[in-house]
Amino acid sequence: MRRLLPKTAFALSLFAGTALAAAAPVPPAAATAQVTAERIGDGIAAFLPPGMTAYPHSLALLRTPEAEGTLPADWQIRPRFDRHVGKTRVTVAVPQGADLYGTGEVTGPLRRNGESITLWNTDNFEYAKDGGKQLYQSHPWVLGVRPDGSAFGVLFDSTWRATLATGSDIVFESSGPAMPVIVIDRASPQAVLEGLATLTGTMPLPPRWALGYQQSRWSYTPDTRVLQIADEFRKRRIPADVIWMDIDYMDGFRVFTFDPKTFPDPKRLNRELHARGFHSVWMIDPGVKIDPGYKVYDSGTVQDVWVRDAQGHDYHGTVWPGAVVFPDFTRPQTRQWWSALYKDFMAQGADGVWNDMNEPSVFNVEGQTMPDDNRHRGGGELAPGPHLEYHNVYGMLMVRATREGIQAANPDKRPFVLTRSNFLGGQRYAATWTGDNASTWDDLKLSIPMSINLGLSGQPFSGPDIGGFSGVATPQLWANWIAVGAFYPFSRGHTIKAPQQKEPWAFGPAVEKTARIAIERRYRLLPYLYTLFRESSVDGLPVMRPVFFADPRDPHLRAEQQAFLLGSDLLVVPAFAQHPALPQGIWRTVSLVDGDRADPLQATLKVRGGAIVPLGRIVQDTNEDSLKPLTLLVSLDAHGQAQGRLYEDAGDGYGYRRGEYRLTTYRAERQGDTVKVGIAGREGHWPAAARPVVVQLVTDAGVVTAHGMDGNVTLHLPRTH
Ligand code: NOJ
Repeated sequence: MRRLLPKTAFALSLFAGTALAAAAPVPPAAATAQVTAERIGDGIAAFLPPGMTAYPHSLALLRTPEAEGTLPADWQIRPRFDRHVGKTRVTVAVPQGADLYGTGEVTGPLRRNGESITLWNTDNFEYAKDGGKQLYQSHPWVLGVRPDGSAFGVLFDSTWRATLATGSDIVFESSGPAMPVIVIDRASPQAVLEGLATLTGTMPLPPRWALGYQQSRWSYTPDTRVLQIADEFRKRRIPADVIWMDIDYMDGFRVFTFDPKTFPDPKRLNRELHARGFHSVWMIDPGVKIDPGYKVYDSGTVQDVWVRDAQGHDYHGTVWPGAVVFPDFTRPQTRQWWSALYKDFMAQGADGVWNDMNEPSVFNVEGQTMPDDNRHRGGGELAPGPHLEYHNVYGMLMVRATREGIQAANPDKRPFVLTRSNFLGGQRYAATWTGDNASTWDDLKLSIPMSINLGLSGQPFSGPDIGGFSGVATPQLWANWIAVGAFYPFSRGHTIKAPQQKEPWAFGPAVEKTARIAIERRYRLLPYLYTLFRESSVDGLPVMRPVFFADPRDPHLRAEQQAFLLGSDLLVVPAFAQHPALPQGIWRTVSLVDGDRADPLQATLKVRGGAIVPLGRIVQDTNEDSLKPLTLLVSLDAHGQAQGRLYEDAGDGYGYRRGEYRLTTYRAERQGDTVKVGIAGREGHWPAAARPVVVQLVTDAGVVTAHGMDGNVTLHLPRTH
């Protein structure tokens, strides 16, 4: 543990809410009874509760914060710490008129004012338990936006079970000890999220294939069925990149095994999928079947990796395989053992890993998880502690070990991990989906604020099960869902083990056509999306953003949760949106694919005036080079100018870290009756691309097209424009 306070520290006395305006030097003994406030970054303050003298190790944070000096005397947002029997309460007064967001994976509205949730990762089928107020992940984090567009964020750095109420005060009530609180206060919500990223890290750049459309079900089995699904996509010319293997591929649900009858040769299956241009993702759960002779159970037992109960015995629970033990991921030895298991598994040719049930979910017990007093032994920077302390980070510690394992197995590839359970900061290890939703209109609509709030909590790579996991989807619902689902950062259709098929062609030709158009639109947008993912991996801004990001000062946009932004240049308005609040300024509706504007179920796409959006051609998967030609969709602002960026690299691997990429800034400028589109800036070692470019200028009177070479296109406007 590094000390937060330098020796010469100044502390601010905040006894139970009485803020003293002026900072005063505090002798070390007195500091133990006071709140310590320190500047730890640009517009970022850390508050340590009375009695805490150094910032403890944090699982949410990238690194332990270091004090950079005292807070300005006019610093506004200050937590108040109260200790009640068995509970710690922290209260933060919400500035007048501020709108609240974030709080992670939540049901309910985008705007979180007046909401209350439980931070206790829970397997919550159909979001039914507790009205959906406790879900699979915990993000003790609130983003606030003041009426003037300035913003703040509050991070409660505790993993213990807690409640988070966002009323006129933000009240965080934890069943654990008092915790540090970090407050970010900056000029805009975007700047606050950049601050959050400096604290909790960013999503590592995923492989490009993970941005394609993905198809899953519980389960495609046997292996021949998997290939049929892949073939069906190609035959029907519906673009797709990934097929998912749910639990039934395993031998009796033993993790890291394959059913000898239905998946006798996984290596061959992966090879055949690759030959068809598909990648594969395979499920691994945390519960390990108690089964002497099964090598994962045996090696784990020899290495003594299991979570223990309060009496010190291995804890036994029940999940899919029957009786199981659970790896204690708080132990460094356990994480190493778990990581090493992926060596042979990935050698079968799997491309990604899906960690499910990792709240952890336990069947047939009160609370559907292990007892609060189970013991985690910790090690390294983690102290031993009860399950109550480590429950919320069980999934995060698991995916950290998974990611390390698949990285070690394939050092030259970018890992892809999907997780159901996670914690604030968990974007460093895995993407996420929002668990077991239902095939209902409510859940379709809910999915938009859910993914937006995850993005506003540091996790940019998320999406729900498109079409809904449980229940029967009507053709109308599924079609509407894919029309929007093509624009989630993580775009995957999935469904429960039930007779209904939920592939794009399962609902008849009309829905199939809508699905094809929607997915083709995503594929045309992949150069833009990949650029956004790259930017997010650097600055932490979400890929899917609330409409109010277009103008944080516009009060009308603050509650909009049907429409959303992709990056800052593209607005997505679902067909079902009723009276959406849209930003002022120039936003021009565009067509990306033949027939999209004629299909009433497709979302309306609008490009911001002043933006250049790079597009590819329609490809069937991301292995194909879609930038032959590159299309630049240009939408001029009121001054006749526009700008946009395109990031390109190998799509996988780490060459980009050595400069093997091309980040091009395009600029368009109107001069009289011509518009010149050229390159305003370049970054990366890849040389300029000598390739054909199509410029499509979107005007209020229609689209004007010009062809040329990359970096030098002149477009002549017809006289009427
Ligand atoms: C629960 C997951 O949420 C779901 O997506 C999956 O299909 C089932 N477990 C079976 O593995």
